[in-house]
Amino acid sequence: MRYLVTGCLGFIGSAFCRYVIRNILGSTIIGVNRNSNQKHLKRLEEVLQNPRFTLVYRDLSKESMVDLLDKTDYVINFAARTHVDYSIKDPYPFLNDNVISVVNMLEAAKKSTTLKMPVKLDGQKKNGEERNREIGNALTEK
Ligand SMILES: NC(=O)c1ccc[n+]([C@@H]2O[C@H](COP(=O)([O-])OP(=O)(O)OC[C@H]3O[C@@H](n4cnc5c(N)ncnc54)[C@H](O)[C@@H]3O)[C@@H](O)[C@H]2O)c1
Repeated sequence: MRYLVTGCLGFIGSAFCRYVIRNILGSTIIGVNRNSNQKHLKRLEEVLQNPRFTLVYRDLSKESMVDLLDKTDYVINFAARTHVDYSIKDPYPFLNDNVISVVNMLEAAKKSTTLKMPVKLDGQKKNGEERNREIGNALTEK
């Protein structure tokens, strides 16, 4: 299974990458993140040297993902601008990272010849705990 994980340097995305490389044998990951926070590279220390993991720096609100999505079975989208209370003061960075990036990704997904389906994991409040468990089970069954 070939995964593309966006926001791979983030809190959740990095934990997901570590989990998949540790537990899903034969899986590979292309991790994508904006090149903004080098201190968060530490979160991926465990997987960075693993040949099954590739880190690609890209700003998804500005740069295409078409080339990456053509080498991928599943996309897991964790890239986001969090701390949304700041959007009250200035909404535009949030629109770019949380809306335009997702539209760019879906448009690129249309062109992919390999992608099975894009996956968006939302927060527990939206999915419900039961749904989160189902998604977790589906990922570990592969
Ligand atoms: N942290 C939680 O407890 C939690 C719980 C439930 C759901 N979520 C959701 O999971 C997602 C990720 O949350 P997190 O806590 O890991 O956030 P985070 O801020 O730690 O990570 C987000 C990552 O996305 C990257 N990113 C943002 N915009 C980008 C862009 N345009 N191009 C490339 N990379 C970009 C950031 O650089 C960062 O590394 C969010 O949608 C959040 O709402 C988080």
